[in-house]
Amino acid sequence: MTRERAAGRGSEARPGAARPAQAGDDEQLIRSLRPKRLAECIGQARVTSALEIGLQAARERGEALDHVLLHGPPGLGKTTFANVVAAEMQTGIVTTSGPALERGGDLMGILTNLNKGDVLFIDEIHRLPRAVEEFLYPAMEDFCVNFVIEKGAHARTLRYTLQPFTLVGATTRAGLLSSPLRERFGITLHLDFYPVDELTLVVRRSASILGVAITEDGAAEIARRARGTPRIANRLLRRVRDFAQVRADGKITLEVARNALEFEGVDALGLDAQDRELLRTIVQVYGGGPVGVEALAATLNEEADSLVEMVEPFLLKAGLLTRTPSGRRVTAQACDHLGLALPDRTGRAQGSLFS
Ligand SMILES: Nc1ncnc2c1ncn2[C@@H]1O[C@H](COP(=O)(O)OP(=O)(O)OP(=O)(O)O)[C@@H](O)[C@H]1O
Ligand SMILES: [Mg+2]
Repeated sequence: MTRERAAGRGSEARPGAARPAQAGDDEQLIRSLRPKRLAECIGQARVTSALEIGLQAARERGEALDHVLLHGPPGLGKTTFANVVAAEMQTGIVTTSGPALERGGDLMGILTNLNKGDVLFIDEIHRLPRAVEEFLYPAMEDFCVNFVIEKGAHARTLRYTLQPFTLVGATTRAGLLSSPLRERFGITLHLDFYPVDELTLVVRRSASILGVAITEDGAAEIARRARGTPRIANRLLRRVRDFAQVRADGKITLEVARNALEFEGVDALGLDAQDRELLRTIVQVYGGGPVGVEALAATLNEEADSLVEMVEPFLLKAGLLTRTPSGRRVTAQACDHLGLALPDRTGRAQGSLFS
């Protein structure tokens, strides 16, 4: 039996999160596309086999799975895998997030209510306040929490024993995690962007759940433009489905997919208007870079964090952007793609030094 409870603000979207899903019906739809069991998860072979081994070993020993840290860019499956762990262990899952836990007491209430083997899923764990984090250390290591009662000379520490549980932490910014916290996870899994063939399978699976007819090359076209991200693949599929229904006979072919995605402003590399704007700004305002992320964010009227978490990872992966100690730079490939000339860096540097 799978028990699910919500705690705190749950896995609410970050403020300013790019490419948000629409609420209401779409919410339901998104949930129906989310794989529930490990066998339904596509790709990420290293992650799925590490989980498979860990899960089977824990089940055979009748123990809770070791704590798991999932890190990687948005939309690649962190929340999905956290829920899969609970489903495979046939335990309950309690979902909360770093910013929702303001005080140690918030976490205390959740921890003391966990049943044996339950999964505690903390999304955006890099945003956990330090005081709460320290509270988590003994809970993770020894399944106990210490709390201090009274003050001054009469202060006493009470130790409360918890049921063994599995903490699953998710973060888009593993680098922001303190090392004591990172070291307490037994299993650390990095989710990377999906190759096109795996995303094609994601699109085909989702199309069959949604009951949409799609050709192999239609699915591949959506996959190629999905920035290596299943969430984006699913979102594009829904837009292409609408387009196919209204402008064609309902079937998604290569041509329908291509026209629909062009109509959506998604180009051949999968870049959307925001991605192109970022690259174009670096070329046209900052002479190709290097430019610091704060300056870039200010010019684009965006939050620096959301550029770093949502926009940049794919541009870096695709070789359109590089990150140097002095800031971000566009590559020749990005200029080619945008049809812009690559600014002459040597000329610019000399000009700024001597004129
Ligand atoms: N391995 C997978 N196979 C098939 N579909 C997947 C897979 N991983 C993710 N998805 C799809 O992508 C969607 C987004 O995944 P998920 O919500 O787990 O991402 P996330 O990493 O938690 O993102 P965020 O950082 O924004 O919270 C899911 O609803 C699911 O439909
Ligand atoms: Mg998530």
